[in-house]
Amino acid sequence: MEYTEHMSLRAALVWQIEAGVVDTLSETPVDRYALAAAAAAAKEQTKAPAQARPGAPVEPAKADPVDEAQQMATAAQDLPGLKAALAAFEHCDLKRGARNLVFADGTPGARVMIIGEAPGREEDRQGKPFVGQAGQFLDRMLAAIGLDRGESVYITNVLPWRPPQNRDPLPAEIAMMRPFVARHVALAKPEVLVLMGNISCDAGLGKRGITRLRGTWAEAYGKPALPMFHPAYLLRQPHLKREAWADLLSLRARLGQP
Ligand code: URA
Repeated sequence: MEYTEHMSLRAALVWQIEAGVVDTLSETPVDRYALAAAAAAAKEQTKAPAQARPGAPVEPAKADPVDEAQQMATAAQDLPGLKAALAAFEHCDLKRGARNLVFADGTPGARVMIIGEAPGREEDRQGKPFVGQAGQFLDRMLAAIGLDRGESVYITNVLPWRPPQNRDPLPAEIAMMRPFVARHVALAKPEVLVLMGNISCDAGLGKRGITRLRGTWAEAYGKPALPMFHPAYLLRQPHLKREAWADLLSLRARLGQP
C-alpha cells in the first residue's frame, strides 16, 4: 500500500493523542487565565437570584416563618387574638392535615400553666388539649395534688395541630411555634409552668433529656418551670410514676397549700 500524506497526518495525530496533547495551537495566542476567570464568572451568574438578571420576573422575597410568627404573636393583645393569629398563620404544613386548631383548655389566668407537646387523635377531633387517654391520666395526676383544669390549671401544647401519625414535631415546626407559645404564656400570666415531656422542654428550655431535666425547677418564657415526664410516657412506663409523684409534690410545695 502506498504511504499517502493522509496516512502520515493521521499517524502524527495518533502519536500526539497518545502523548497526552489536549489543546490545539492556533495562529493567535490564547490567555488561558482569562478564560478560567470568565468561566467562573458565568457560573456565578447562573447561581444568582432571578431578579439579578435583567428582564427576569421579580419574585417576592420569601417571608421567614419564625419572623412572621414573632410579628403575629406580638401583635396579639389577648388570648382570643392569639388564637386568631395562629389560625391565620400559614407556614406550618401540619395545619393542612389537622381537623382542628387545638389552642387551650382549662382556666385562663390560673396559677399553673401546663405545656404539652402536640394534639393526638382525640384532641384533634375535639379541638381541646389533653382530652384523650393521656389527658385523663393528667387530670388524675393534678387531682392528686388538689388541682383541677376547671378552676386552677390552664393547658396548652407547643404545637396546635396534630402531626401525622403522631410523629415527633420537626425542629422547624417547633421553632415557628415558639413565638406563639411565649406570647401565650405572657397573655395567660401563670405563676409557674409545667413542661410535659421532651418537646416541651426543647421549646421552653432549648434542650431535651427529660430523665435528667425532670424534677429540677428551671426558667422558661420568663417563668419558673418544672419539667416532668409526659403522662403518655408514664402510661407506657408505669415504674416512673414514683418520680412523677415527687415532681407533683414539688409543684404543690411551690404553690403553697391550697
Ligand atoms: N399529648 C400532648 O402532649 N398533648 C395533648 O394535647 C395530648 C397528648
